[in-house]
Amino acid sequence: MSRKKIVALGGDGVGPEVMQVTCHILETAGLDLEILKPLCGMEAFKAQGNAFPDEAKRLCEESDAILFGAAEGPSVVILVYLRWLMDNYVNLRPVKYYPGAFSPLKNPEGIDFLLIRENSEGMYPGREGDIPWLAKKLQDYRDPFGRTLDFYGEGKFAIRLITQKGTDRIARYAVELARERRSQGFAGKVTCVTKSNVLRQSCGFFQKTVEKAVKKTTEIGYEHFHVDDAARRLIRFPRDFDVIVTSNMFGDILADEAGEMVGGLGIAPSACLGGRKPYFEPVHGSAPDIAGKGVANPTAMILSAKMMLDHLGMKEEAQALEKAVAKVYREGKHLTADQGGKTDTKEFGEAVLKKI
Ligand code: NAI
Ligand code: MG
Repeated sequence: MSRKKIVALGGDGVGPEVMQVTCHILETAGLDLEILKPLCGMEAFKAQGNAFPDEAKRLCEESDAILFGAAEGPSVVILVYLRWLMDNYVNLRPVKYYPGAFSPLKNPEGIDFLLIRENSEGMYPGREGDIPWLAKKLQDYRDPFGRTLDFYGEGKFAIRLITQKGTDRIARYAVELARERRSQGFAGKVTCVTKSNVLRQSCGFFQKTVEKAVKKTTEIGYEHFHVDDAARRLIRFPRDFDVIVTSNMFGDILADEAGEMVGGLGIAPSACLGGRKPYFEPVHGSAPDIAGKGVANPTAMILSAKMMLDHLGMKEEAQALEKAVAKVYREGKHLTADQGGKTDTKEFGEAVLKKI
C-alpha cells in the first residue's frame, strides 16, 4: 500500500487545538501517513485575506483524505469547499457509547448506531429571500389554504430542495451501509426519518425513494418515523437503531442530540464522503466559549481520524486507535472537563498515545 497523503485543516476556534493533538497522535504512533498542514482559517485570512488559500485547496485536491477541525466566520469557506464544491453528499455520524463517557442517560450501555445525514441539499445552504419578492414571482401559487403568498405580507422565505439525484444516492448509500452492518453482526436495518405527514411532497418523496431502494434487496429491515417521533425514540429506545437516514437539517439536529446521549459533542465524530476527496471532522463546531483555553475534548477529532484510517483501508491502525480511546474512557483517570475530569486537551492526547 502506498503512503497516504493527508491534509490537516484546523480551521478556527477549538479546531486547531483538537487537530494538533490528533496529528501528534497519528505522527507519534508511527502510522504510514504524510500529513500536510497548510495555512488556513483566521490565520490565513489575516495574512492573505483568504481563509482558504489556493495552495491549501491544491493540496486537498491532491490528497487521499482531509482532516478538518471547525469553521466560524471567514473560515466557513473551507466548509463550503469541502462539503459542496467537492460534493461530499454523505455525512456519516456514528453514535457509539464508550463506557466511562459522561452520558446523561441512565443506561447508555450498548448504544451503537450510524446516522446518515444528507449533506448537500434540503434546507442547506440557505436559499432565502423576501416574501414580497417571491409573491411576485409566484403569482399563480396557492398554499394548502388556497392563499397566494401576497396574503402574508412582509417577511422571509427559505427554499428546501429534495432532488431525485440527491435522494437516490443517499438512499443507495444507506441500503449498502445497512447490508455491510448486517454482515458485521448488527441488525442491518434502515430507519428513514422525515416529516412526510406535513411536508407531503418533499419529505414524501424522500421517504418513497428510500423505501424503493430498500425493496431492491431482501436482506435488510426497514422502518420510518417522523422526525419528532424519532427525536423521542432516540432517547427512549437508543438500542433499537442501526442505520438512520435523513435529510440535511433533520440530520444536523438529530446528530447533536444523539451525540449528547453517548457523552456529548466532545466525543462525536463524522465522515463526509461520496465526493472528490473524503473529509473527516467532528460533529461539533468551533466552541468559542472554550476556545484558546486548551480544555477542548479532542476525542471527536481523534475518532474522526479513526474513521479516516478505516476509509483508507488501514483497518488495524483504526482499530488500535479506537481501542486506545476506549481504554482511556474505561479507566476514567484522564478525562476532559466536558466528561467531568480535569485533563486538558494535550494530556488527553498523551493518555491515548500511552494506550496505543
Ligand atoms: P459548538 O459545537 O461549537 O458548541 C456547542 C457546545 O459544545 C459548546 O458549549 C461547546 O463548548 C461544546 N463543545 C463543542 N466541542 C467541544 C469539545 N471538543 N470539547 C468540549 N466541549 C465542546 O456549536 P455552536 O456553539 O452552536 O457553534 C459555534 C460556532 O461553530 C458557530 O460559528 C457555528 O456556525 C460553528 N459550527 C461549525 C461547524 C463546522 O465547522 N462543521 C459545525 C457546527 C457549528
Ligand atoms: Mg451541527
